[in-house]
Amino acid sequence: MTWSGECKYTWAMVSQVSTHYRLRGRNILLGITAGVAAYKAAELARLLVKVGAQVQAVMTPSASEFIGPMTLQAVTGRPVRQALFDSQHEAAMGHIELARWADLVLIAPATADFLARLAAGMADDLLATLCLASEAPLAVAPAMNEKMWRHPATQANMATLAARGVMLWGPAEGEQACGDTGPGRMLEPAELLQRAVSAMGGGRFAGRRAVITAGPTREPLDPVRFLGNRSSGRMGYAIAGSLAREGAEVTLVSGPVALECPPGVERISVETAMEMHTAALTAAKSADLFVACAAVADYRPRGAADHKIKKGAETLQVDLVKNPDILRDVAALPDRPFCVGFAAETERLREHASGKLRDKGADMIAANPVGEGLGFESDDNALLVIWKEGSLELPRQRKGRLAEQLVSVIAERMDAQATA
Ligand code: PMT
Repeated sequence: MTWSGECKYTWAMVSQVSTHYRLRGRNILLGITAGVAAYKAAELARLLVKVGAQVQAVMTPSASEFIGPMTLQAVTGRPVRQALFDSQHEAAMGHIELARWADLVLIAPATADFLARLAAGMADDLLATLCLASEAPLAVAPAMNEKMWRHPATQANMATLAARGVMLWGPAEGEQACGDTGPGRMLEPAELLQRAVSAMGGGRFAGRRAVITAGPTREPLDPVRFLGNRSSGRMGYAIAGSLAREGAEVTLVSGPVALECPPGVERISVETAMEMHTAALTAAKSADLFVACAAVADYRPRGAADHKIKKGAETLQVDLVKNPDILRDVAALPDRPFCVGFAAETERLREHASGKLRDKGADMIAANPVGEGLGFESDDNALLVIWKEGSLELPRQRKGRLAEQLVSVIAERMDAQATA
């Protein structure tokens, strides 16, 4: 494979990406309330300690029905704090000291009751008091029965907390301890660790919102058949993960793929190009960055048949109509994000990529040559990244590593554009 044209930038000029070191030496106040998921708090504390954070566990009075303080003390190396009226600490206003000590307050699990008390501004136990007294960023990882989660009272409390700037991490959907299935599971400890890393800032995308499209779309022909393509979603998912590690708040609009959502990323699952268009446009309105990595069907059948199409005539004609162009429409938004498109090409990579940069109104195009084990479905890829004033070749490598490099290039171009 050869790429022609002048290359103004080299990879050595682009800085490396960092990850968990951001929590080293940071003070995390880990609040544990009385939910079944409290047992996972020990693993979360262990992960936080492992990456170098100092963790102070604070339990509500009934949390110890679900996990013993000794377990948390052993993992964190610090006595667990439970009582507000504790003569040992409160003589010196210990709760205020603790509130000042925290760089991040993370409540995991956060029960419906605790969230209600938090929303109401109560100070009826040590943990609730600390949340009021601390100026540190506050994150909650809700965990409760799905009906409790869906209850309008809980939803109203969550809206109040969100409006106050509390970070809402989860809940996840799935099977619950009570046997119900739905939203209400606490996010896994590894996911919460990743969110904490992102929240502690220092990443090049801290405070920025990113929306990524990934994977294929499926355009239904009838109830059992569709027009699709070979995109596995690997490239887009790797970019979403990289951006989250760099501190971005990431929304991944994904076509049907067999991949786990990267830690710290919110996924919206869609099937058709029209669904992807709606989800991406809605999310992109408040985004700083939009990356269109999905292989979106350019056309869809005019109308999907209501019933399975039967075999009959020797030939079958399918009438196709054009899908909207998601990248172009996002780039045309009034207060648009920085727009990065992809181009999968079998020939004249630079020429086609330049054409797409112009035609779609993008700020940058990452072009990948397809074939020879690159691009669709493979673990490897190579990119020619072009923008108006320059370009950069990122040679063949694993998509994970390539995504990190691409994210660095994007950060650099966004910063350059902002200061131009
Ligand atoms: O998913 P993997 O198996 O890891 O493979 C990754 C990939 C090869 C799919 C990815 O790296 C890639 O190149 N994605 C774009 C694929 C493509 O065919 O693009 P395109 O030339 O059709 O479209 C150009 C750009 O416009 C793309 O950013 C695309 O997302 C966007 N587009 C296209 C059509 C449309 N209706 N809406 C769009 O937003």
